[in-house]
Amino acid sequence: MNSKRKPILAANWKMHKTAAEAVEFARAIQEGTGPLSDREAVIAPPFTALQAVAGVLQTAGYFPCAQNCHWEVKGAFTGEISPVMLGELGCRYVIVGHSERRHIFGETDETVRKKAAAVFANGMVPIVCIGEVLAQREAGGTFDVVGAQVDGALKDLDADRARRLVLAYEPVWAIGTGRTATPVQAQEVHAFIRQRLESLFDKSVANEARILYGGSVKPDNVDSLMEQPDIDGTLVGGASLEVESFKRIIEFQFSSGE
Ligand code: 13P
Repeated sequence: MNSKRKPILAANWKMHKTAAEAVEFARAIQEGTGPLSDREAVIAPPFTALQAVAGVLQTAGYFPCAQNCHWEVKGAFTGEISPVMLGELGCRYVIVGHSERRHIFGETDETVRKKAAAVFANGMVPIVCIGEVLAQREAGGTFDVVGAQVDGALKDLDADRARRLVLAYEPVWAIGTGRTATPVQAQEVHAFIRQRLESLFDKSVANEARILYGGSVKPDNVDSLMEQPDIDGTLVGGASLEVESFKRIIEFQFSSGE
């Protein structure tokens, strides 16, 4: 991390927890960690629990987040949720382009770009996910893949929005596998992404945008990941489902902070 960028510890619950379970968790985690001033804790429950979670996330530093949205504000899109609807619930962030959305539901850089723009246009901040699959990494294609995803998702974004953007680098081979990228492997890609932001926009945008790491983040590896200068937080799946383990992740410690 870099002390100029406020870290984000985000829980992506995917398709887990009923509204009642989600509320119980949200209460317990706030009681456990208390108000936050030097970091943000973000919780992305399923849509069905979002309103209830937003209602109980009242402690400073905690913010509700959606896992996806459509890019249109309304219309004949059966089963979709619009960014206006999410804004109404008090959502602060929306995850877009998660690898499960890309690989299971066919999302492309173009739909991710439209979604990110729609989230900004409706007063929220997108958490744009990018990351290579194992075959691409093994073929030496990581930077090409991630670079193309960044370009595709951020095309046409203006600098003021870009500096508020959150990116999440989630190598697909590390998601839900227990196989984390090493801090050095993750840092290498994060530094590359920041460099790409500088070429697409400018140095100040690159210095302000936050880049999270996701993929088998756990209480026992969060500190070493957060030591890396270009890792500004984590997007956590499995280890965010238990209060004690997500609490420890929120309370990450670092010794080399700038
Ligand atoms: P895991 O932490 O379960 O690997 O999931 C990561 C992820 O996909 C977060 O969005």
